[in-house]
Amino acid sequence: MGKITIAIDGYSSTGKSTIAKDLASALNYVYVDTGAMYRAITLFALDNKCIVDDKINLEKLIGLLPKAKLKFQFNKELDYSQMYLNGENVEQEIRSMRVSKLVSKIAIIPEVREKLVSMQREMGRNKGIVMDGRDIGTVVFPDAEFKIFMTASPDIRASRRYKELISKGENVTYEEVLKNVRERDYIDSNRASSPLMQAEDAIEFDNSDMGIQEQFERIHHYALKVIEKQKKNA
Ligand code: DC
Repeated sequence: MGKITIAIDGYSSTGKSTIAKDLASALNYVYVDTGAMYRAITLFALDNKCIVDDKINLEKLIGLLPKAKLKFQFNKELDYSQMYLNGENVEQEIRSMRVSKLVSKIAIIPEVREKLVSMQREMGRNKGIVMDGRDIGTVVFPDAEFKIFMTASPDIRASRRYKELISKGENVTYEEVLKNVRERDYIDSNRASSPLMQAEDAIEFDNSDMGIQEQFERIHHYALKVIEKQKKNA
């Protein structure tokens, strides 16, 4: 009773998943990282040679899509769910630059979006969910009770992402990461199918100059208010 749907959208590397994860944990809600789903399909396409020399063989990929079985499995030690593709834990591989460089191109394919949006709606059927992505408040759950749109400057986002990749041992330059951030912003915002945009009823949240704790406290406080209101109206 009184559970709501929380949609967190925004540009890449704005820290959506950190906040969404912490928020879900504090509210005892389910957390779903939809970017991980698009990344897993990208890895699937690479593994099945549907992408050769950065060119996507659309027909082949669409034909193979039903064979891509995605599953989130909760990891108790890490306290979050990890992505499994056809039974294999792919959490680390889907975060690599190899996948990051191609994922926006896979995310523009309507058949891919259709498959993933329908899975996402099913996961959120009973509310009590925090879902992050690009089209959650606009397409997946337009009726979500609480919507946030996260932004931060491209330089700040690239520098956060760069530190994260370096700490994982990836061999990348800051310039390469910044280029990837800008390219993804452009493709995500300009694609024909469910482009990234702020829902009319979403709260814009620029976290360029804000630490994680402050962001969490503000958003958590707001979420509790929405949940309280929801209970009163029930
Ligand atoms: O959140 P992320 O950076 O892991 O997302 C990876 C890519 O997937 C991103 O470039 C855009 C795409 N994406 C999308 O199109 N729709 C979503 N709901 C989530 C991600």
